[in-house]
Order: sequence, then C-alpha cells, then structure tokens
Amino acid sequence: MVFGKSIAITGAAGGIGRAIAEKCIAEGAKVAISDINEELVLQTAKEIGAVSFVCNVVDEASVKAFISGAEEANGPVDMFVSNAGVGFPDEPGGHAAGGSNESLELSWQINVMSSVYAGRSLIPTWIEKNEGRFVIVASAAGLLAQVGTASYTTTKHAAVGYAEYMAIMHKDDGIKVHCICPQYVQTNMTKNMKVITEGPDKHILPSDVADALFDAIEKDEFLVLPHPVIRDYFQGKAANYDRYISGMAKRKSMLDTAHILKMETNNGTV
Ligand SMILES: NC(=O)c1ccc[n+]([C@@H]2O[C@H](COP(=O)([O-])OP(=O)(O)OC[C@H]3O[C@@H](n4cnc5c(N)ncnc54)[C@H](O)[C@@H]3O)[C@@H](O)[C@H]2O)c1
Repeated sequence: MVFGKSIAITGAAGGIGRAIAEKCIAEGAKVAISDINEELVLQTAKEIGAVSFVCNVVDEASVKAFISGAEEANGPVDMFVSNAGVGFPDEPGGHAAGGSNESLELSWQINVMSSVYAGRSLIPTWIEKNEGRFVIVASAAGLLAQVGTASYTTTKHAAVGYAEYMAIMHKDDGIKVHCICPQYVQTNMTKNMKVITEGPDKHILPSDVADALFDAIEKDEFLVLPHPVIRDYFQGKAANYDRYISGMAKRKSMLDTAHILKMETNNGTV
C-alpha cells in the first residue's frame, strides 16, 4: 500500500506520529519525520530508520522547508501526515471563554493552519500528478466536544472541517484524504491520566491508531475511528443534537471542573 512511497509526518518525535512512521517503514515506505523537539526527533529517527527534520508547524516557511527536505531525501512526497497537535485547558478562567487568547491562537495555528501550510505546498503538484494522500490527525474532540478545553474542541472541529473540505475539493484530482479521530491514546499527551484498559472507551496504543489508518487506506475511507464507539456517539449527536448537549452537560456536571482541567487536558497537551 505504501511500499516505496515517500511519506512525511509532523509532530512525530513520539506517540501517534512515531507509530505511523514505524508502520510505514515496516511496510517499505521511505519516511521523513519532523518535530519541534529537536533532540527527540533525531533520536526517534535513528531508532526507527527515518530521516529527521526540525519543523515548527506554526511557521509556514518551516513546513515548506520540511517538505523540501523530505523530497530531497526520499523523492516527491506521496503521503503527508499532519499529526502535530496541542490543546490547552480553559484556564485561567475555567469557563467556555476562560482560556487565554494566546492558547486559542496557538491551537488554531498548530491544529489547523499547519495542514493548510502543508496543503499549499503539496496540492498543486498532486493535482498535476492526479495523485497524493493527505492524512490529518484530528481527534474524537473534532466530532464531539471535549469537556474542559474550548481551544481543543474548537480547533479539532476545524481540523475535521478542513480535512472534509480538502477531500471534497480534490476527490476528482486523485487526492485521497483521511481524517483520524481517536479518543484517548496512551502518549505523552495523556501521561497524567488514569489509563482505562477495558471497554469501548479504553485508552488504546499509538500502534492501534497506525493500524486503523492502514485499514482505512485499504478500504479507501475518509473517517478513521480507532475507537469504533465514536461512530455511535457521532450518529447519536446527529440524530438528536439537544439530547447530545444535555448528555455532555450531565457528564460535565459529574466531574469537578478542576479535575477535568488537570486530567483531561494534561496542561496543554491533550
Ligand atoms: N493522545 C491522545 O489521546 C490523542 C487523542 C486524539 C487525538 N490526538 C492527536 O494526536 C496527535 C499526536 O499527539 P500524541 O497523542 O501522539 O501526543 P505527543 O505529545 O506524543 O505528540 C505531539 C507532538 O507534536 C509536537 N509538537 C507540538 N507543537 C509543535 C509544533 N509547533 N511544531 C511541530 N511539532 C509540534 C510535540 O513535540 C509532540 O512530539 C495530536 O494532533 C493530538 O491532538 C491525541
């Protein structure tokens, strides 16, 4: 499926990005990984057999330089995985407008604009070739609200919207788009959370997300749901929006807000 392909992945020093890189390499792809964390991305690249770059995805020139570097090393990028992501709790206010402007703006840059920057570099060439694959690692929080973080909920919804838009606009150009929407995954982002090991909402492994992506590539599916139960929740929301809001409000009231902020957002890295 990806044998011999040139693949570039952002935010891949660890977690989901690394797992996708490892799976791509195991399947015979040539992989370039990048991250803002210079030391870790270099170490990870050595461990898994990728080439590495430092890239801050809020900076369009940096994203462009990453893509150029990946192309020099491995040939024209066939598949791009926009994986770098952050979230911040609704602090200091602790309410829907309580987060700082800076945290909301940074979330917008990292969770949404990074994909726009990569798309701007890649889409014109992909249209000419009538081929290309763009993967956006969004979140279940892009389909359903994540209590305790307006910045994550809002920008991940935007990430899903952008993935959907790209898929529609470029379906006839031969460009495939996949949007990954996991619930909790055991990575650095969720390291302070109590791990749930059973049931449909259990915390899965990064490799489970990579497997779900490959399954979606094989089946040519846009929406990638490593937790299948998210499809039920999402369908329930579409069927009755008011019932969904009441249900989420009940969930919110069952949890102490301070607890939510600490446990569900891990101080800026959901
Ligand atoms: N862990 C979860 O439960 C979960 C659930 C749903 C979606 N996600 C999403 O998965 C993606 C990967 O997260 P993860 O869980 O592997 O966590 P992670 O913290 O291991 O990976 C995120 C990576 O993004 C990098 N990053 C942050 N800001 C950056 C920037 N400005 N430029 C470049 N890189 C930057 C970090 O250094 C880090 O390596 C994120 O988009 C996240 O929102 C995670």
